[in-house]
Amino acid sequence: MTIADPRAKSRMVVTGCEGQVVSSLIERTALDDRFEVVALGRPALDLARPETVGALLRDARPDVIVSAAAYTAVDQAETEEGVATIINGTAAGAIAAAADALGVPVIHLSTDYVFDGSKDAPYLETDPVAPIGAYGRSKLAGERAVAEATDNYAILRTAWVYSPFGKNFLKTMLRVAETRDSLNVVDDQVGNPTSALDIADAVIVVATNLQASDDAGLRGVFHMTGTGEASWADFAEEIFALSNSKGGTTAVVSRIPSSSYPTPAKRPANSRLDCSKLAGVHGVRLPRWQDSDATPRSS
Ligand SMILES: NC(=O)c1ccc[n+]([C@@H]2O[C@H](COP(=O)([O-])OP(=O)(O)OC[C@H]3O[C@@H](n4cnc5c(N)ncnc54)[C@H](OP(=O)(O)O)[C@@H]3O)[C@@H](O)[C@H]2O)c1
Repeated sequence: MTIADPRAKSRMVVTGCEGQVVSSLIERTALDDRFEVVALGRPALDLARPETVGALLRDARPDVIVSAAAYTAVDQAETEEGVATIINGTAAGAIAAAADALGVPVIHLSTDYVFDGSKDAPYLETDPVAPIGAYGRSKLAGERAVAEATDNYAILRTAWVYSPFGKNFLKTMLRVAETRDSLNVVDDQVGNPTSALDIADAVIVVATNLQASDDAGLRGVFHMTGTGEASWADFAEEIFALSNSKGGTTAVVSRIPSSSYPTPAKRPANSRLDCSKLAGVHGVRLPRWQDSDATPRSS
């Protein structure tokens, strides 16, 4: 006979090893008494081989799965849409199918880039999706594959993620400012900068709620970004103001239109997400983006 140890932590199996969200979950659960994170990434788990995912997840003995790994190279996806779709679409479905077979919830991270950006207000979960690039299409394929594979899911669409980990806009700005006094930054795309550390805090709450109740209302698609909006130029100015106040590198931001900074992938002009549903259903509202710094709490 085995009796479950009531002090045992839940095993939160997260895909990816060094991504921003998985690193933030490792950071945030380090002192948590509810969850231990098991990070499952390359080379052991390769989402480009979706047929291998089920057995690996089963062996990891999850109590909850967080599907955080993705093909996130937005511009490169334009020339590698097939690979991006296998990783972000087919493998996302395989992860959700494995979760369903194991009887555990899956929390799947998705993106604002499922929208075309033409709405002149923040997007609701019920707004029609219409991605304008390969990355957005591949992530939308993932959302659909997850919903087809299981009912026990929360898809969390986030955006403009920054953190002390991996590659992101904040780190790029600070790096470029080491060698330049001024930078051109796009001013006509608006969105919600979001700290991956705040995402981790929110994922922990959602995971707790999904484990505690079978209520269908806790499941489905939710928008989850930092509170407040910014253009990339606003975001850059705030980064430099904060860096300057701490004696770090700084630069003058020159505002330019997207047309002056052509990229292989088109980005939505309006990426703002309305996060009221997440607040109402899960009781989670991420902090104002200006109030979230990118410093790990345990440092
Ligand atoms: N970053 C953003 O601004 C943003 C915006 C909206 C939504 N999202 C979504 O949020 C989630 C987390 O993003 P993030 O910023 O944490 O991403 P990230 O920092 O770019 O990390 C991506 C992770 O995916 C892993 N990965 C990539 N290809 C893989 C493969 N074939 N097999 C296994 N692992 C693979 C990477 O592994 P390696 O460490 O081995 O490279 C890395 O751990 C993703 O679903 C993303 O689509 C991100």
